[in-house]
Amino acid sequence: MTDRSCLSIVLAAGEGTRMKSALPKVLHKVAGLPLVGHVVAAARGAGAGDIAVVVGRGAEEVRACLDNNTGKLETFIQTERKGTGHAVLAAREALARSYDDVLVLFGDTPLVEADALLTAREKLANGAAVVVMGFRTDKPAGYGRLIEENGALIAIREDKDCSDAERAITFCNGGLMAIDGRQALALLNAIGNDNAKGEYYLTDVVAIARSRGLSVVAAEVAAESVLGVNNRVELAEAEFLWQARRRRAAMLDGATLIAPETVFFAHDTVLGSDTIVEPNVFFGPGVRVDSGVTIHAFSHLEGTTVGNGAEIGPFARLRPGAELGEKSKVGNFCEVKKSQVGVGAKINHLTYIGDASIGAGANIGAGTITCNYDGMNKFKTEIGAGAFIGSNSALVAPVSIGDGAYVASGSVITQNVPENALAFGRARQKTIEGRADDLRTRQRSIKDAAK
Ligand code: UD1
Ligand code: MG
Repeated sequence: MTDRSCLSIVLAAGEGTRMKSALPKVLHKVAGLPLVGHVVAAARGAGAGDIAVVVGRGAEEVRACLDNNTGKLETFIQTERKGTGHAVLAAREALARSYDDVLVLFGDTPLVEADALLTAREKLANGAAVVVMGFRTDKPAGYGRLIEENGALIAIREDKDCSDAERAITFCNGGLMAIDGRQALALLNAIGNDNAKGEYYLTDVVAIARSRGLSVVAAEVAAESVLGVNNRVELAEAEFLWQARRRRAAMLDGATLIAPETVFFAHDTVLGSDTIVEPNVFFGPGVRVDSGVTIHAFSHLEGTTVGNGAEIGPFARLRPGAELGEKSKVGNFCEVKKSQVGVGAKINHLTYIGDASIGAGANIGAGTITCNYDGMNKFKTEIGAGAFIGSNSALVAPVSIGDGAYVASGSVITQNVPENALAFGRARQKTIEGRADDLRTRQRSIKDAAK
């Protein structure tokens, strides 16, 4: 397959009015990635070296979100919405470069899989001029029907143009199409708009190709992989199906999910083998977890890397820039942001670590806070290897605690603490023998006077 050039045209100019949103439809997210991003990723996975996205409203926003993708990607603007056939031709300039394979995809079908696209490309390589991805459903209303004669696909009839007999057909157009790149432009140019909607239908390519004696074939895909998102209910359905797929893949790759239906992944989550994920864990984008890690219940991670054998949670929050070293621990009700946590370091209870680096084997006591923000600027806290921070300490940044240093509990540390030093930053305790009784007597007299 690698020797055949491939262009994927992703149609994303739809209004998406049923989303009832200020955001263009294709920018709504599944697993933290815009719908159109999933489609582009599948096209890339199927070997599409070049991608052309056809956008309408919100072109700038669509472009901005796609800029992060690797590989060649162009956007074309469809100024008027005149149908899918018209939309594809907005990318005429790209089509004119005459690729071997052209894949036409819809930007609102995030569950499309690279494998199905590869199957379609194989059929092109074997001589088909047009390949249509069909699916079966007992609720075909709204979809184009695949009209077959003697087992051969002869046309796609849009719902509004169907006869009663055709409307009963349950084999439908999933909307993904592969077209021989050398014929694509000629076939697409031949599409007219003489139909119930007065639109240029991409699907007419089937009958046009047939009339020219070219080979047209249908390939069947699972209905769920061509699910189109048109409203927020379908957005949630797509998320549901995507998560189910991803959980299964994580388990087959060697992670234990105790209650898989309660674990939520992002599109780019990486989980190493022998990682155990307890119930109710959420992965935002940008998380990489090495192997042998335990993530206890109710933890929330994003933009985080976790080294081998680390332990997280329960109830931990790891925010962007948290880098946990091997065998480190971040325990319950702890938050870590933009900080490196050294090998074997422990942050076990009720702590905030932000803009900090923590050396190997350091121990951060319960309730420690790095005071990284003065209301205007952010500052760094450095904690050396093997340092011990007593419970309920406030480390006022910028500040550094040397290797092996010891901070007494309840300290407010505003000055650097050298290596192996012991620092107290709190009032000295005063104890007065017998004074508790005196105190109670006074309190009682105040209470009696108030009666
Ligand atoms: C389309 C197919 C139908 C198929 C169904 C599968 C056609 C004519 N019909 O119908 O056979 O069963 O998808 O879901 O292709 N778009 C543009 N510009 C336009 C029109 C559409 O960019 O002028 C984009 C939309 O953003 C969307 C995609 O093309 O991503 C499909 O358009 P849509 O209007 O949803 O087509 P359907 O009526 O669903
Ligand atoms: Mg649609």
